[in-house]
Order: sequence, then structure tokens, then C-alpha cells
Amino acid sequence: MTGNWNPDSWRSRPVEQQPDWPDATALADVETRLKGMPPLVFAGEARNLRARLADVCEGRAFLLQGGDCAESFAEFHADNIRDTFRVLLQMAVVLTYGAKLPVVKVGRLAGQYAKPRSAGTETIDGVELPSYRGDMINGMAFEAEARRPDPERLVQVYNQSAVTLNLIRAFAQGGYADLNEVHRWNMGFVGNSPQGARYRDLADRLTETLEFMAACGMTSKTAPQIGETEFFTSHEALILGYEEALTRVDSTSGDWYDCSAHMLWIGDRTRQLDAAHVAFLQGVKNPIGLKTGPSMDPDELIKVIDVLNPDNEAGRLTLISRMGADRVADKLPALVRRVKDEGRKVVWACDPMHGNTIKSSTGYKTRPFDQILAEVRGFFAVHQAEGTYPGGVHFEMTGQDVTECLGGAQAITEESLQDRYHTHCDPRLNASQALELAFLIAEQLKDERSAAVPLAAVS
Ligand code: PEP
Ligand code: CO
Repeated sequence: MTGNWNPDSWRSRPVEQQPDWPDATALADVETRLKGMPPLVFAGEARNLRARLADVCEGRAFLLQGGDCAESFAEFHADNIRDTFRVLLQMAVVLTYGAKLPVVKVGRLAGQYAKPRSAGTETIDGVELPSYRGDMINGMAFEAEARRPDPERLVQVYNQSAVTLNLIRAFAQGGYADLNEVHRWNMGFVGNSPQGARYRDLADRLTETLEFMAACGMTSKTAPQIGETEFFTSHEALILGYEEALTRVDSTSGDWYDCSAHMLWIGDRTRQLDAAHVAFLQGVKNPIGLKTGPSMDPDELIKVIDVLNPDNEAGRLTLISRMGADRVADKLPALVRRVKDEGRKVVWACDPMHGNTIKSSTGYKTRPFDQILAEVRGFFAVHQAEGTYPGGVHFEMTGQDVTECLGGAQAITEESLQDRYHTHCDPRLNASQALELAFLIAEQLKDERSAAVPLAAVS
């Protein structure tokens, strides 16, 4: 298939989760305009991410992927971009310390504007309208005008993604991401909040490490690794006309890359073997993700892996497991074992969000912090039992102080969900919950390392 693959090959396949665009000519016009616009990322950057993920695949690095469930036009603001970026860096520092490995940082941002929905329409008080599919397609307000899919939104997504990326690149390279600064923010979390206090021990050891490194002459002035960071973008490749328009031939390698983001993933609802989303992503060379939910069967998984990664290259494919805390021990082992037995090279990452969504008694879609943590722990336990590497984590989170997920040390209750519930789709961890989770995972990674038998002792 890849031999005669083209960015529009997906069009001959059955396709799920696309809007009913009311005006085909307006859509075609937008797609033509997008084809003329510059790529958002450079193929060489996507290749770098692939190399980093190959390290994860081989157990030499750890993946942290996170950001909004759905970016929106309303929440598009420099402060929001900065704050999400900042919490991801804070989490990454803590995880680096816990894992004693480099952490590969991938944002769910600069393009994450489209959502798969369980039904094409929504009915309220007898009125039926198209479902809200994310700001890339239509508006959230339950009004006919807002819900009509509007292709001009694709252009707005492109523009906002470009601006978001520009700011992130500036932060990553311009001094904002200095390791000492990031650590200072973490010390603020530990010192100023009751929920941070319990992580003082780990944070203090990090302070000592940084002081030791500075004493040895390693500072942001002498070592770029301290003053700058490497950060990648990702989103679900859902609206294929948009992805097709940003897919370009890389002049250095002659390969196709989807230049809308460094990494693209296929959602749990659009991973059918012979359908359009798999057909599209099989032809681009970016690193790609595949959401893997409880309905995935081992035979089917091997078939999709063979389509998406026929040359079995490390770093090409990340399986993002999203089973639910109560099902991970039951559903994940057979998949992990089969992939291992067949020698397929994949990164296993854990998305502990999408299998743990519940409705609160106060009517909000939410996720309990303890269930999120339980799924991460369950994921680690499966890999420990199977002798495989738990390569990373994937969170829906924000740098804002929202009240969308229950619990954590902040103890958000069902009653307080209404205080600051702003998400445009699924509930996100707030900054403090996200950081707390990173500390808890870091402690676990540290314990697992000290429990592991040193290689020298076995030889
Ligand atoms: C998502 O990541 O927001 C999502 C819709 O996930 P999934 O495809 O795993 O349901
Ligand atoms: Co989501």
C-alpha cells in the first residue's frame, strides 16, 4: 500500500467521525488554501522525535505526553499555553529524577481541536442538532448556527497552532525552560501548598543534585541541556482533510510527513484496520500513536501493528493503553504478552484518563484522581509481571487551577466541581493534581529501580 500511497488514499476507504460539512465547495476551497500554507513542523524534527521514542522503546528514556482533551478558541491565550508548558516541564523534571532517564516531552497542543463523539447528533428538549465535534468543526453552544460545521475553522486551527508552536519554541529555547527555574517552581509547589509538602524529601534531593552540578561547573551558561529543552507537539489525526492538506514530501528524504504536528495518533474509535484513519497514517513517516482500549483483541492488534509499522522500527509506533483502572489487570497482559512474543517493537504508554470517566452525582463528567493513579500503577504492575518496559504516561491536564477531576491532595469534591469547570470536552487534571501525580509516579519509578537486581549481580 505504501508504494502507491498518497495523502488522499484514505478517501477511498470507509471513514468514521467526520462532520457532515454542509458546503462541499467551501470545504474544498479551504483545503486548497491549507495546501498552500507553510508546514507547521519540519520533517527533521519529527525524525528526532522518532529517535527519542526509539530510546523509549528500548528502555533508555521515558515518555510524558499531556495537555488539553480539546484545545479551544475561547481558551486560546498566552498564559494558558505558558502554564500548560510549564507544568509539563515541572512534571518532566520530577520524572527524570525518579526514572534516572531522559524524559521525552510531547504536548497535546498546537492542533488538538477535533473530538470523536459517541453520537452524530444531540437532542435537548426535543431539539436535535449536530454534536459538538471540537472547535475545528463547530461551536459548543447548543444553537443551530453554532453547531453547523464551518470549514473556515480549519484555517483558524492552523493559525492558532502556528502561534502556539511559535511561543512554545520561544519558551523551550529562550531561557524560560531553564532547569533551575523549573526546579524553583517545583520548590514553590512543595513549600507553598499543603498538597506539595509531602514531596519535600524528593524535591530536596533534587536541590542537592542541582547544587552539586553547579559546583562542578554545569550551569545553563556552560551546558545547553540545562538552559534549554526539547519539546514536541501531538494531536489526534481525526479530520483527515486537514491532515492531508498539511502532508508534504520532505525534500531531504523524499518521504511523506504530516507536518501539522510531530506526532499524530489514531483514536480508539477510528482504529478499524481497513478504514481511512489507519490508511492515512500508514503512509506518513511521523512517529504515530494508537489508542488501545479494552475492546482490542491481540490478533487484531498484531494486524494493525503490521500495517502501521511493517518494518518493525523502534520509535515509529506508540501504543497508548486506556483500559480503565478496574480492567487494566484483566485486559492489558494478553496484549503486552502477544506483542512481546511476536517481537514487535512498540512503546507502551498509559493513558489513565479515558477509561476512568464517570458522571458525578452533581451531573459533571469527571475522573477520580485515585482511579487515575490506580490505572498507572496497574499498568506498571502488568509490565513488571510480563518483563516488558512501561514506556510512558499520557494525561489530559492543564496548567490552570480548574476543578474537573475529583480528589488529589487538594481533595476536590463532587460539590466543588462546579467552581471552575472549564473543559471543552473531557475533565483535566489541574496543575497541582498533575504535578502530584508526577511525584507519585516518580516515587514508584525510584522504588522499582532500587528493587531491580543489578545486572552485575546476575552475570
Ligand atoms: C482523547 O484522547 O481525547 C480520546 C478521545 O481518547 P480515546 O480515543 O482513547 O477515546
Ligand atoms: Co479526552
